[in-house]
Formats: sequence, C-alpha cells, structure tokens
Amino acid sequence: MDDSKIKIPYHVGIIVDGNGRWAEEQGKKRSYGHKIGSENLEKLSRYILSQTGVKILSVYVFSTENFKRSKEEVDYLMNLFTKKFKSDAKLYQKENIKVVFSGRREPLSEEVLKTIDEITEMTKNNTGGILNFCLNYGGRAEIIDATLKISKDLGQNKITEEEINEDLFAHYLYQDLPPIDFLIRTSGEYRISNFMLWQASYAEFYFPETYFPDFNNDEFDKAILEYTKRDRRFGGNHYEKTNP
Ligand code: IPE
Ligand code: IPE
Ligand code: MG
Repeated sequence: MDDSKIKIPYHVGIIVDGNGRWAEEQGKKRSYGHKIGSENLEKLSRYILSQTGVKILSVYVFSTENFKRSKEEVDYLMNLFTKKFKSDAKLYQKENIKVVFSGRREPLSEEVLKTIDEITEMTKNNTGGILNFCLNYGGRAEIIDATLKISKDLGQNKITEEEINEDLFAHYLYQDLPPIDFLIRTSGEYRISNFMLWQASYAEFYFPETYFPDFNNDEFDKAILEYTKRDRRFGGNHYEKTNP
C-alpha cells in the first residue's frame, strides 16, 4: 500500500490476551506466557509510540475481575508488574514516553503502588507519547468513580448541574485522554471484557487470532493496514464526502 494513504490512529487500545493459552499449548506454565507477554509488551509499546506516529497507547494488563484468578497467578502477575515497571522505567524515559496508570488503587499492594508512583513521577514531563497502563482497571468501576467525584464536586459547589455534559464527564475519568480510535484484542476473543467502555464508544475494533506473546511489530503494522481501510462515520452519512 502507498505509505501516504496510511491512516494512523491517535489513540490505540490493546487488550493484551492469550498469554496463558500461548504457554499451555507449548506444555508450559501460564506464568511463562505472562513473562514473555510482558517482554513483548515492553518492545511493542516502545515501537508503537516511538516509530508509528501513534500518540497514545492504552494497554489492558489486569482487570478488576482478574482478582478472581488463583492466588498463585495473581501474585505472579503483581510481582511481574513490579519487576517490569522497575526495569523498564529507564527505557521509557530514554524514549521520552510518559507512563500513566488507570484503575483503582485498592486492593493493590504497597509495593505495586510505590513502583507505579515512581515511574509516573519519573516520566511525568515526557512529551514523546503516552503509555497508559490499565491495571486493576474496570470500565464500569471507572464510570462509577467518575460519578462519585462529580457528585462530590457538586456537593461542594465546584461545578453546577448545568455544566455536566460529555466533555466534563470525560475529565473525571482516571486519565483525561481523548477517545480510543483503534481497539485491538489479541487471541481470537471477540469481546471487550469491561475495557474503556466510555472511551471506546466509536473505536474501530480488530480481533487478530494471534496470542499476545506473538503479536509483534509486524502484526501491528498489519493492524494499521486494516485500520486504514475502515470508514469511520460517527453516525454521519458516508456519502457526505463526495455528495454533500
Ligand atoms: C492476558 O492473558 C493477560 C491477563 C489477563 C493478565 P490471559 O492470562 O488472559 O491468557 P488466556 O486468555 O488465559 O490465554
Ligand atoms: C481481559 O482478559 C483482561 C485483560 C486482558 C487484562 P481476560 O482474559 O481476563 O478476559 P475474559 O475473562 O476472557 O473475558
Ligand atoms: Mg484471557
């Protein structure tokens, strides 16, 4: 395809899925899939934010519902997050990437929270793209949390009822980011699993069969070619362009 015709989404979301099956199909433990998946995520996120023109990348790495998994798996994941955030902070810093987090702090451990706060602080002035880790994240929880903050501000007369609209509501979400343009979920599952319900309302969806540990830079380039073919109408009439 002619490069000049390629459309680059501003905000990409990835539901990182299939780590467990990737490992199990090789007769390995699920934790091995998480380890290789996390290494892939670090490489892929740097590629996406530094080399493709995408400005914001939101990655779903742990849902509020993922606490239903075995203690062994949850503990493994929490330790992996802590370790990776510590070791990767410098890499993101070097590429001028700002790292932020979306999700509830409760019931994350002190250690996870400390690491999250450190990487956030270290990269807060970076301007080369935003990497938003959705960790202990739930789309419904986010909407409830925003509503509670709005209700508090109403009670303290910081805002009025008349001011409440979609723009204002969006400012009360965990991160004040523009909507998701392109949402990828790996591993051949065709569902959203409580990810960015507000932000993805007009996103284009893409569901590759590839398990996340194998979803590399080339797979992402293929995804962009697919995005380029989409006709986003936002409720309008697609003939408008040629036939107003
Ligand atoms: C995604 O991989 C990572 C997390 C949810 C933490 P899974 O662990 O969901 O892998 P599958 O879907 O069981 O293969
Ligand atoms: C969604 O994947 C959450 C993350 C990728 C972090 P799951 O594997 O938890 O989702 P379900 O249970 O298959 O819907
Ligand atoms: Mg899964």
